[in-house]
Amino acid sequence: MNPLNRLVVKTLPLVPKPVVRSIASRYVAGERLSDAIATVRGLNTEGCMATLDVLGEDIVRLEETEPTVVEYQRALAAIAEGGVDSNISVKLTALGLKLDPAHCRRELSRIVETARRYGTFVRIDMEDSSVTEETLRIYFEAREKYEKVGIVLQAYLRRSADDARRVAAVGGNVRVCKGIYVEPPAIAFQDREEIRDSYMKLVEDLLDAGSYAGIATHDPVLVERSVALLGRLRLDRSRYEFQMLLGVARTLRRRLVADGQRLRVYVPYGEAWYAYSIRRLKENPSIAGHVVKGLFGPRE
Ligand code: FDA
Repeated sequence: MNPLNRLVVKTLPLVPKPVVRSIASRYVAGERLSDAIATVRGLNTEGCMATLDVLGEDIVRLEETEPTVVEYQRALAAIAEGGVDSNISVKLTALGLKLDPAHCRRELSRIVETARRYGTFVRIDMEDSSVTEETLRIYFEAREKYEKVGIVLQAYLRRSADDARRVAAVGGNVRVCKGIYVEPPAIAFQDREEIRDSYMKLVEDLLDAGSYAGIATHDPVLVERSVALLGRLRLDRSRYEFQMLLGVARTLRRRLVADGQRLRVYVPYGEAWYAYSIRRLKENPSIAGHVVKGLFGPRE
């Protein structure tokens, strides 16, 4: 671990909560649904679509899933009633995947049922490799019941090329990202260029197979390669979209939108913002560098 990142992670608990809040406020829409809807409205005005994420993952008690489900149901209603352009992204560990997969399936079904009522798309986020297979299994089951359910594949995982074939076989809608969790070399590429090559191969294979691709990256090299690929394939813009996280790479985001690309911003919100920020930093300390940049770096 880079010594600066190690220092940031170690000293983080000493940083006063208001300071962490001020850094997090760039990446998190706020605590309440109304904060999130206001953020989505602002993004829509800039020409971006959105996806809402209710913060909270890796719960310790099954009772914790109830408020998450209810919040997603409220979010789906608010999206429809507010007439904003947004879908939702859901983490299965927040619905109890690691505690009781059957409970998780039931809770996801409640969210998907509500989404179906509003005709809204539901993306299932991909978490660490201990839950990859079960997440895919639950995705395939959910998609059988409602077509507007999508999944995420992580380019750093060696298995993802095979998973892309499985998902493309059902005409799945896939977000492709590099992958944020720390995974061992036996199952995950570690080299930056290898991950980029895997990323581009996934995007190309999925598009070739007729799948819808969410190209989720802030890496200017990958954005450039994707734009070149899309130009070569002469695909209709309804077949793909770019995706970025709230508060990240805003200059690049604006440039893509100005060029006429469809772009969706991932908008996390909720009371769990503090735990979320701390956990993310501990999981992958390289993000600590972004925190330092957020504190001291120039604002884009
Ligand atoms: P890279 O890491 O090279 O970043 C490029 C540049 O972007 C950096 O130099 C930095 O400036 C900036 N940057 C990137 N991430 C930042 C951050 N968090 N804060 C501040 N600046 C940052 N992962 C996963 O495992 N499962 C998932 O379901 C998702 N879902 C998801 C949705 C969306 C919309 C996005 C954009 C990303 C994800 N991810 C994810 C995260 C993804 O796997 C990856 O870790 C990050 O996007 C960083 O990888 P990049 O491709 O952006 O390249």
